[in-house]
Amino acid sequence: MNDTFLKACRGEEVPYTPVWIMRQAGRYLPEYQAVRANVDFLTLCKTPELAAKVTIQPVERLGVDAAILFSDILVVPEAMGMRLEFSDKGGPVLGEPVRTKAAVDRLTLPDTEDSMPFVIEAIKILRSELKVPLIGFSGAPFTLATYMIEGGGSKTFLHTKKMMFQNPGLFHLLMDKITLSVIAYLSSQIRAGAQAVQLFDTWAGVLGPEDYKEFVLPYVKRTLAELRKEGVPMIYFVNDCAALLKEIRKTGADVVGVDWRIDLKDAIKGLGKKFAVQGNLDPCALFLPPEKLEDKVKAILAKGESAKGHIFNLGHGILPESQVENAIALVEAVHRFSER
Ligand code: CP3
Repeated sequence: MNDTFLKACRGEEVPYTPVWIMRQAGRYLPEYQAVRANVDFLTLCKTPELAAKVTIQPVERLGVDAAILFSDILVVPEAMGMRLEFSDKGGPVLGEPVRTKAAVDRLTLPDTEDSMPFVIEAIKILRSELKVPLIGFSGAPFTLATYMIEGGGSKTFLHTKKMMFQNPGLFHLLMDKITLSVIAYLSSQIRAGAQAVQLFDTWAGVLGPEDYKEFVLPYVKRTLAELRKEGVPMIYFVNDCAALLKEIRKTGADVVGVDWRIDLKDAIKGLGKKFAVQGNLDPCALFLPPEKLEDKVKAILAKGESAKGHIFNLGHGILPESQVENAIALVEAVHRFSER
């Protein structure tokens, strides 16, 4: 069992810097495309044998030091009672958007074993097959709330912010319900065998620090405090985290995922000594010529040394247009240049 990833999460000595890639199972991989040719995305998520198969694909192809369960953050809103569709163009659609007290009241607190058994099954299969740690994940409450209130993706997050500012009581009620669902969901994943968890707060970076503190932080803190007793490392990722580091320090995470817009050295300084960090190569760096990519890898590895622990990753998900060879070269370069 390769446990460098778990050791780095805990800030322990490692023989080299572990690396995995957000969205490592996905469309840039021909073997993923081959599976997807016969099955739509949600069916893939809900068929444990297939979800396990595509989870393992990047581990074998890239040699990464961790696997992340193949699923999607939006299966939780679906389990709470919303309609979910993934169109091939235009991204996910959730209906009806949650904008009233009646709509919040209609949402249920899902029991994972009853309404998302495929996740539990996939984790069990994966634990018997993997030789690297398995990361479970969930959307963080705020990021899930944005999809539920907007009814899908958004550029301005108008409806989300309107609810926050015009009807904060309702917004908090919704966040409360989502938080309880996320805690139950991640606890089930850990009990089924997930060896670390990542909370994706992809959209929290659209808020300033004051609003983050009032509308987001209490729910992240509560989620991580409840999960603390499960005893696995907890990673918290915010895309565009730079302005929020002072607040992110209060979340109780073990590892903070850092996007590429901030120098990793500055992120570590802003977070302080308590945290391991994960990141933070620009996903588009995979389009650089090989020597330039290696220079970037070396620079990030050097900066990561000042943190309690460092897990190498991209600053956000790998793009579908990326070349597999470059992802392989990235993993190889991280291992080679970080060997102790
Ligand atoms: O990282 C992994 O390899 C594990 C699988 C994973 C997926 N989605 C698979 C996926 C994970 C961890 C996610 C998380 C997720 N999903 C997030 C948070 C992380 C982030 O990227 O910011 C968000 C915001 C979503 C919601 C979502 N899912 C969107 C907006 C889309 C459409 C955009 C797109 O990339 O197509 C998805 C679809 C999705 N989720 C795909 C995959 C592999 C593509 C679906 C396909 O095969 O067509």
